[in-house]
Amino acid sequence: MSITRRDLLRSIGIAGGAGVMYSTMGALGLAPAAAQTPPFTPLDSNALRGRGGRSVVVMGGGIAGMTAAYELLKGGYDVTVLEARDRPGGRNWTVRGGDTYTDLDGNRQRAGFSRGEYMNTGPGRIPQMHVTLDYCKELGVAVEVFNNQNADAFLYREGDHGLHGKAIRHRAAKADVYGYTSELLAKAADQGALDSYLTEDDKEALIAFLRRFGDIGDKVDGDPDGSFAYTGTSRRGYTVQPGAGLESGVETDPYALSDVLASGIGQYFAFEFGFDQAMVMLQPVGGMDRIAYAFSDAIGRRRFRYNAEIVRYRNTTGGVEVDYRQGGAVKTVTADFAVNALPPHLAARIPSNLPGEVVNALASVRVTNAGKLGIEYDRRWWEEDYRIYGGISNANTDLANIWHPSYGYHGDKGVMIGYYNTGGSADTYGTLTPDRRLRRTVEQGKKIFGDVYARGITASFSQNWARAPFSEGAWVSWPDQTGPDYARLLEPAGNIHFAGDHLSHAIAWQHGAMVSARATVTRIQDRVAAAG
Ligand code: ALA
Repeated sequence: MSITRRDLLRSIGIAGGAGVMYSTMGALGLAPAAAQTPPFTPLDSNALRGRGGRSVVVMGGGIAGMTAAYELLKGGYDVTVLEARDRPGGRNWTVRGGDTYTDLDGNRQRAGFSRGEYMNTGPGRIPQMHVTLDYCKELGVAVEVFNNQNADAFLYREGDHGLHGKAIRHRAAKADVYGYTSELLAKAADQGALDSYLTEDDKEALIAFLRRFGDIGDKVDGDPDGSFAYTGTSRRGYTVQPGAGLESGVETDPYALSDVLASGIGQYFAFEFGFDQAMVMLQPVGGMDRIAYAFSDAIGRRRFRYNAEIVRYRNTTGGVEVDYRQGGAVKTVTADFAVNALPPHLAARIPSNLPGEVVNALASVRVTNAGKLGIEYDRRWWEEDYRIYGGISNANTDLANIWHPSYGYHGDKGVMIGYYNTGGSADTYGTLTPDRRLRRTVEQGKKIFGDVYARGITASFSQNWARAPFSEGAWVSWPDQTGPDYARLLEPAGNIHFAGDHLSHAIAWQHGAMVSARATVTRIQDRVAAAG
């Protein structure tokens, strides 16, 4: 009996519901499947049945360590988490009013943010396809939209071009870049420059696309130069908005083609095309550390030892021993296994009996710095004066990224991220005192937003990850993720297993920490099961 594809789909739809039908359509090439999360089967409470109790000491209560602890607990493991700080989360750190902090350079800060205001010093955004959201759902952490793009946020480019020093709305930059590019490509196609690549039908279809994409003019018969002209568009915005009655609005004029090209503003758009940076993105309501505290609540307070700095760790016959300093005393935890979820470059430094090649692998990472500075203002001038509701302004100065808050709209106050920068720019600010960081930020910010940037500042806090105790970096990268050092850490060293975002292909994302921890948990359980 022959069965048509439609019959097949209908029968699956009836039997399995729309979800099954939809994913089957994906398998048949009819609709795109959702991005698959890496496969993971949580342990069940019978995982250890008949094998006696098994214990795991988790080194580091960041997101990787806590994911491992949380998943191991599901399988009935006895878990202890050693955390050097006095809080869970590691780099997932939200600063609120009253928080105090001293970095490795001795800069001491006390955040003066108002009630309800906060800054995420570490992770601040979550892509839709990341398992971070699955944990938010499982742990009851409410999420809201994080605006990673805003047509009315600014782009600011200094340099030897006509746009030097101008704050340009994203929408205007996009309209000009897309407009001029479309004009040029349409002219080239129409005049035959692409004939070796395009059929007549292709040409027609390409030009039809470019007309809409760039909002360019018509072909003018007998006038190749005047054809497909980009002369501006309402997409750029208005100096006088369309309004009531006869007010049809006054459009803005486009910038000159060579200034648009020379300024490089179009190069920014690649950011928002990124797999993990494209909208929609999300954030926990109330601060990123809601995730950290939800994990620690689920794991249970009694399983954590805080202010517990690991000073030595080693494999023993049949288990592990981890020494930590708490208060003045050095104490020891023994367990069957350890999950080493410390930053690799710090784990390499702590005395252990790990084989030399493992220590070398841990130490072989490259450390990246990142910095963030939060500024609280006594009014939300970016909303009131500039109509910017969330999103990111971006500069080619050392501020790099300026985040307009995606929460608390229309409130009395607000905390902007005055800079989120990496590498050399992060170091430039990081070597300054917090007061000087703020002063420099204000001087740089005024160039984009005007004097308003300096007025009504009620509090500020800044983080330089390179000099953050127990992190000493924002994230790490590998010279090569197919090389022996990376591969070595995917394997346990005796009874010590490793986990962290650095052992994933989603470095600098909580997702990476989580999927790495899940892989490690699976590995431990497989070992226990194989031992019988
Ligand atoms: N994942 C980090 C970010 O989105 C690096 O900024």
